[in-house]
Amino acid sequence: MKLESALPLLRQNPIVPVVVLNRVKDAVPTALALLEGGITSAEVTFRTPVAGACIEEIATKVPDITVGAGTVVNKKQAREAINAGAKFLVSPGCCRKVAKVANSLQVPLLPGVASPTDIMHVLDWGVDVVKFFPAVALGGLPLVKAYLGPFPQLKVMPTGGISLDNMGDWLRHPNVPAVGGSWMCAPKLIESGSFSEIVRLSREATEKVKGFRS
Ligand code: 3PG
Repeated sequence: MKLESALPLLRQNPIVPVVVLNRVKDAVPTALALLEGGITSAEVTFRTPVAGACIEEIATKVPDITVGAGTVVNKKQAREAINAGAKFLVSPGCCRKVAKVANSLQVPLLPGVASPTDIMHVLDWGVDVVKFFPAVALGGLPLVKAYLGPFPQLKVMPTGGISLDNMGDWLRHPNVPAVGGSWMCAPKLIESGSFSEIVRLSREATEKVKGFRS
């Protein structure tokens, strides 16, 4: 197995919002708010039964957003996500069955890793970027730096505890092409229709990235 690389996609999308949608009607306004704030990707999580429908809405109506699927924990969800138009898959852990679907349909997968054993599993699948989850609770950047000793080739997208305040520490590291997080589109913002706040928080984050990348 040699999974598609997620690296080109992440290099273009250094902030990957983790989006939880409970209503299909929120999918397009949320995607448009992220886009207005300068964010060009969204990971719609399979934590709700409408995830597939929301991915399809965004894929067809907001093509400037690179939409992916998150919290993909089995092959049924992986197939549903890709059929709906997901351009990438993210898992909280590493599941070979999910990887096989991603491989056969040539869609990049970011499997979740937390330990050296997990990393060895996914390197065997030809993965080049992993989701490091839950990043801050596990030990943050010092732990990633320790893992890069034996695995110097590994690229990492940290998620779990990433914020406006700490994202720069991560993104300045050469092995971190992107960070994931929900802080700019928290479920309560989506559910209360606070899309202008999603625009503001997204813009704040994208301006910060521009600031230290220029
Ligand atoms: C998740 O899968 O829940 C993500 O890691 C998001 O975590 P956050 O809410 O801490 O950004």
